[in-house]
Amino acid sequence: MKGKSGLVKAIERELGINIGETTKDNKFTVEYANCLGLCDMGPAMAINDIMETIKKKRTGPVIFSEYKRGDAIKKALSMTREDILFELKDSKLKGRGGAGFPTSTKWMLTAAAKSDDKFLVCNADEGEPGTFKDRVLLMEFPELVFDGMVVGGYTIGSQKGIVYLRGEYEYLLKPLQDYLEVMRKDNLLGKNILGKKDFNFDIEIFLGSGAYVCGEETALIESLEGHRGEPRNRPPYPINTGYLGRPTSVNNVETLAAVSHIVVKGGSWFAKFGTDKSSGSKLFSVSGDCEKPGVYELPWGIKISELLELVGAKNTKAVQIGGASGHCVPKSQFNRTMAYEDVATGGSVMVFNESRDMLHVLKNFMEFFVEESCGQCTPCRMGNVKLLEGVEMIEKGEYTFAHINKLKDLGRTMQMASKCGLGQSSPNPFISILENFNDEIFNAANGGRNGK
Ligand SMILES: Cc1cc2nc3c(=O)[nH]c(=O)nc-3n(C[C@H](O)[C@H](O)[C@H](O)COP(=O)(O)O)c2cc1C
Ligand code: SF4
Repeated sequence: MKGKSGLVKAIERELGINIGETTKDNKFTVEYANCLGLCDMGPAMAINDIMETIKKKRTGPVIFSEYKRGDAIKKALSMTREDILFELKDSKLKGRGGAGFPTSTKWMLTAAAKSDDKFLVCNADEGEPGTFKDRVLLMEFPELVFDGMVVGGYTIGSQKGIVYLRGEYEYLLKPLQDYLEVMRKDNLLGKNILGKKDFNFDIEIFLGSGAYVCGEETALIESLEGHRGEPRNRPPYPINTGYLGRPTSVNNVETLAAVSHIVVKGGSWFAKFGTDKSSGSKLFSVSGDCEKPGVYELPWGIKISELLELVGAKNTKAVQIGGASGHCVPKSQFNRTMAYEDVATGGSVMVFNESRDMLHVLKNFMEFFVEESCGQCTPCRMGNVKLLEGVEMIEKGEYTFAHINKLKDLGRTMQMASKCGLGQSSPNPFISILENFNDEIFNAANGGRNGK
C-alpha cells in the first residue's frame, strides 16, 4: 500500500534477479516477508535480519503517565500477594494479547497451582499483522514491562521470567539485555530482591524464529522447549502444565506494562478509564491510509470515527481491526466503539481509503494464513487454502455464488473445528470482507467481478 512494488522493482533491477531468486554469486536472495512489525513505517525491509525503514519514523504520541523504574517492584514487595491480586481484580485488567482473559484470574490460578517451579512468560512475539505497539513499549518503556514481570513473579511464586521476543525484533535483544544487567546491579533482579528475603527472580530473553503461530501461548511454550512451534491441546492449560510441564503464566507485553501502573496507582485508578467491561486505556497500532500512523494510547470505548479523525484518515472506506484475523468494519459502522463488548482488538488498526481494492486486501490476508498455518489440523491447513482459492476465483470472475456460500460455511466450520486461535479466526476477514463489501466485489456495475 505504501510503495512496496516500486521498492521491489528497484531492488530487482539493481541485483538483476526477480523476487524469489538468488544472484549467481549466491550473495543475495530477495523474498517477500509476511510481516516485520513495522507497519507504521512501511515500506520496510530486513537485510540480514536488520530492519531498514525507507521512510523516517513517524510514531504517534504514546501517552503514558509518569513512572519511575523499580517503583512497582518496591510497592509490590511491601504488599501481600493477596493484596496485589485484589488490586488487579479491582482494576478489571484484561489481557492485552487479544483474548482478553482477566489477568487477576490468570495469576490467581497460577499462584494456586502446586509446584516448586513456576514460570512467568512475557509474550513479545507480536506477529499479528498491523501490530507494533509491543515493539514501541519494549524500545521506549522497558522498565514498565520488566517491572511488571518481577511483580508477576512475586505474585505467582515464580523465580524465573522469560521474554519470548519475536525473531524480527532481534535488534532489540542487546539493548534489552543491557537493561536487565542494570536491573541486576540495582538488585531489581537476582537474589533477595530489594532486600526481600527469599524473593529471587531473574529474566532471560529467548529469541523466536519468525512464526506467527508461536505467539499462541502453547506453541510459544513448545518453541521455548526447543520443539517445533505447534499449539498443544488444551486443557491442560499453561497455568497448570506449561513450560517444562510446570505452571506458567503467559502475559502480553502491554498487560505487564499496565500491571506496573496498577500496582503503583491502584486498581480503582485504572478502572476509572475506559468502559465498565473494558477498563483502562489501550495502545492501538495504527497503520495504512492516514496522515499520522503510529502507536496511540486511548481509552477503551473510543468510537472508530473519533480514532480516524485523530490519525488524520481521509476518505476512509474500511478499517481492519484486530489484525489479519480481526474484523473488517465498513464506513456504515464507524460509530461503533473499540471495546471488548463491541469491536474487540489486541490493538491493530489498519486504515483503507476509497482507492483500495478490498478483494486485494482479502487476498493478502488469506495468503498470510496459508503461509502461517502450522498444518497440524485439517480445518485450518486445508480450509485456508480453499478460502484463498475462492478469492482467486472471484478475482478471475470464475466463481459461482453457490460455491462462495459453501466457502463461507467452510469458514464457519473452521471457526468451530480448528485446534487453535489461528484457524478459529482466519476465516474472519473472508466472511466480513465478502459480506461488508459485497457490492464492490461482486457487482460488475461497480467495477466488481461478475459471477454465475
Ligand atoms: C495465532 C495466535 C497468535 C498470537 N500471537 C500473540 C502475540 O504475538 N502476542 C500476544 O501477547 N498474544 C498472542 N496470542 C495470544 C496468546 O495465545 C495469549 O492469549 C496471550 O499471550 C496471553 O496474554 P494476555 O493474557 O496478557 O493477553 C496469539 C494467539 C494466537 C491464536
Ligand atoms: S488451527 Fe492452524 S495453526 Fe492452529 S493448530 Fe490447527 S493447523 Fe496449526
